[in-house]
Amino acid sequence: MKVLVTAASRHGSTAEIATMIAEILRASDIDAEAIPPEAVSSLADYDAVILGSAVYAGRWLEPARAFAARHAEELATMPVFLFSSGPLGYPSPLQVEPADAVGVEIATGAMDIQVFPGRLIGRDLSLPERLTAIKTHSPFGDFRPWDDILDWAREIARYLREERFVASDPAQPIGTD
Ligand SMILES: Cc1cc2nc3c(=O)[nH]c(=O)nc-3n(C[C@H](O)[C@H](O)[C@H](O)COP(=O)(O)O)c2cc1C
Repeated sequence: MKVLVTAASRHGSTAEIATMIAEILRASDIDAEAIPPEAVSSLADYDAVILGSAVYAGRWLEPARAFAARHAEELATMPVFLFSSGPLGYPSPLQVEPADAVGVEIATGAMDIQVFPGRLIGRDLSLPERLTAIKTHSPFGDFRPWDDILDWAREIARYLREERFVASDPAQPIGTD
């Protein structure tokens, strides 16, 4: 069982979420690696994919959308888990799935889809981004919910371990316990 964790990120905070998820999977004895979507050319080595993106102007970033389109056929045949990171503030504002993520969820038959609050650091932003953030009254700070992210990664690890157990042990067919 090898898992790809891949997330599109402009300023690094969503990439850090992907890195953390891969670490949690490895700590749960699942081989996992975090690679940016634009650097993945094939899914042949993987049995499951966790795909995420930062949200900008209500959309997933292009590398995540392109990854989903490029690998659509294979993704539809394996366990896929999706996450978006974007909403800012605490308590978190309404966590709405971006339409891109919903489209990918439908196309891949994803097992689960999550929205995690993100991070906004003024010094990271370009001038146009900073002006947008000010105009939209976006709060600056790091709002990523690490406990929720860890719980989600552990839940995925549990699910994948069980899948592997069922698949590798013909004495335990699904639904007979
Ligand atoms: C210019 C700009 C536009 C943004 N637009 C949205 C948005 O439409 N919806 C949202 O939830 N978050 C939005 N965000 C917040 C980002 O998604 C958030 O800061 C995220 O954590 C950035 O991830 P990254 O560091 O991986 O790029 C926006 C941030 C910036 C700077």
